[in-house]
Amino acid sequence: MILGIETSCDETAAAVITADGRVLSSIVASQAELHARYGGVVPEVASRRHLELIGPVICEALAGTGAGLDDITRIGVTCGPGLIGALLVGLSAAKAIAWSRDIPLVPVDHLQGHVASLYLGAAPVEPPFVCLLASGGHTQLLAVHRRGSAERLGTTLDDAAGEAFDKGARLLGLPYPGGAEIDALAQQGDPDAFRFPVARVPGLDFSFSGVKTSLLYTVRDLGDAGLAERRADLAASYQRAIVRALTRRLHEAAEATGVDRVAVVGGVASNTELRAALPDAALVPLSLCTDNAAMIASAARFTDPLPRAEALILDAYASAA
Ligand code: KG4
Ligand code: ZN
Repeated sequence: MILGIETSCDETAAAVITADGRVLSSIVASQAELHARYGGVVPEVASRRHLELIGPVICEALAGTGAGLDDITRIGVTCGPGLIGALLVGLSAAKAIAWSRDIPLVPVDHLQGHVASLYLGAAPVEPPFVCLLASGGHTQLLAVHRRGSAERLGTTLDDAAGEAFDKGARLLGLPYPGGAEIDALAQQGDPDAFRFPVARVPGLDFSFSGVKTSLLYTVRDLGDAGLAERRADLAASYQRAIVRALTRRLHEAAEATGVDRVAVVGGVASNTELRAALPDAALVPLSLCTDNAAMIASAARFTDPLPRAEALILDAYASAA
């Protein structure tokens, strides 16, 4: 059994999976409510909450399987990218358990973790495939030729797709985290009511700062009363613009690489319109789209553990390698 630990942002998560990718338990303690009043994640507040939650969350993940630490043969932990203070809480917990129980420790990159969410469950996705990774911090296109590695084809030049959702939600007066809020409100709106063009940049990269600015100007022109009246139309049109940009680039990447299987992972992969727009894509269940530790445990299967002495000096990193 593999224990996964994830604390890169504002979710404290632990999970236990089997070597063949069955999820035995997956506990996610979200801090979203704690950060909502600030309109975004406050790093220091996140670290402190991780510290309170990490022990109970790991215990709950183990309890859900009926197994104990003696049954764990490997620990996978997120080392980055993410908030340093937050990452260090999960990393320190993982190191302590690994050292005291002599359990092999595997450092996991958060983005590789999202890709590895595709390898869980009864119908794991087999490479090769082209993967759109769209989260709050990253938006990338990856060519995956084998499990455990990926070639980056494109990335965002400014905001991530999830960030565009979150910032757009804020402009619309919706609470944080905004992606799911826009998704829900958009279902009552007309996606063709407004035109929010998304900048087309060369190659397979993305840019979302322009669409956010065009929403800002539209909201400003409408005024408070206009915004209140048209909020659902604005949400639907804004969502349509982001989803179109994502799906268009994903198809272009598939064409450029000659790989026709496509997949979408990360928090934005839970978006209703995006899922509907990609009927042939590999999509994981909603619980595996947003941050969780099952995907981290999954990724830990495809990297060799660190030698015992090196495990203790393992460090966290904030930015993507
Ligand atoms: O992967 P994730 O949980 O955390 C990061 O690694 O960043 O992604 C979180 C992001 C947030 O920006 C959130 O607004 C977005 O995913 N998100 C959504 C939806 N659910 C979460 N965006 C659009 N539609 C959704 N239903
Ligand atoms: Zn994530």
